[in-house]
Amino acid sequence: MRRKPFVATILLVLVCALALAGAALAGTGGFAPPTPRSPNAQRTNDAYYLILAFTGAIFLLVETALVVFVIRFRSRGRPRTVEGPQIRGHTRLEIIWTAIPVVILAAITGFVFYKLPGIKNVPAANAAGGRIEIGVEAHQFYWQFRYPDGSTSVDELTVPVDRNVHLTLTSPDVAHSWWVPSLGGKIDVIPGRTNHTWFRAQQNGVYRIRCAELCGIQHAVMLGFVRVVPQSDYASFLGARHAKTADLARETYQGVCAKCHGFKGEGGIGPKLAGSAGLNDRTALAKTIRNGIGMMPPVGRTWDSRQLNAVITYLQKHVASSAGGAAGGG
Ligand code: CUA
Repeated sequence: MRRKPFVATILLVLVCALALAGAALAGTGGFAPPTPRSPNAQRTNDAYYLILAFTGAIFLLVETALVVFVIRFRSRGRPRTVEGPQIRGHTRLEIIWTAIPVVILAAITGFVFYKLPGIKNVPAANAAGGRIEIGVEAHQFYWQFRYPDGSTSVDELTVPVDRNVHLTLTSPDVAHSWWVPSLGGKIDVIPGRTNHTWFRAQQNGVYRIRCAELCGIQHAVMLGFVRVVPQSDYASFLGARHAKTADLARETYQGVCAKCHGFKGEGGIGPKLAGSAGLNDRTALAKTIRNGIGMMPPVGRTWDSRQLNAVITYLQKHVASSAGGAAGGG
């Protein structure tokens, strides 16, 4: 007769766990990582699920035992002064509960070390299909990408599908962290140090980049995208980059200036730029962009003259004349 409530409780716990597991694992916002779209992200995912399986099983075991013991060994009206049975050590049990965790930890460690080279090591330059070299600069508060032909882009990296992409990461200001959850693990971007990582996107699409290191007041908006396109689109993207400065100018304004000064220059955490007389002096403006001033970081420290001139022209043409009214912004 006594067993019935235990069995019912265990069943209830199991049913709840299973019901919650479905919801918890469902896509973004749950406990599951985003769908991996690169071999290194896939390997990270594999390790995640191995660890989840062990921790999930242990959680169920411990919680079930807890509930069973709470019910089975309840006081049943026994006076508080009465001592429970005194139990001495149990050698075999102690060996078992030491040995099993050791085996589990060894299995996890072994698996992770087996997967690690495929996550961390950048595929060789002479690997099938070769690799594309991309320079990634992390700045307060944007990402700048340098392509093999010398082109640049801000906050949006365009790469062809099914190619190894080797990233060389540097920071001219403070520590940031490169993270594209679908395309492999995080890597810190640290001033004075050059770090490397890679991915091979297996599907066309747009993948979110996040800065994963608190790098200043606008860290939260240090977002970007990796745009994965067919090989032919990549070639035409680079062609267009060379021909048109306008795209780079707009991108630079939106990715670099607008995050603090507003999309229309209406001001934000940085001063209002719209209608500012200071925008007329190209030389002073160039100096401010390169070196920073007061709270403003030296955002343009690494820009070539093409990018610097392009954004100054953009500021004068689209922002200086704009009213940047109170209702503006984006
Ligand atoms: Cu860069 Cu946070």
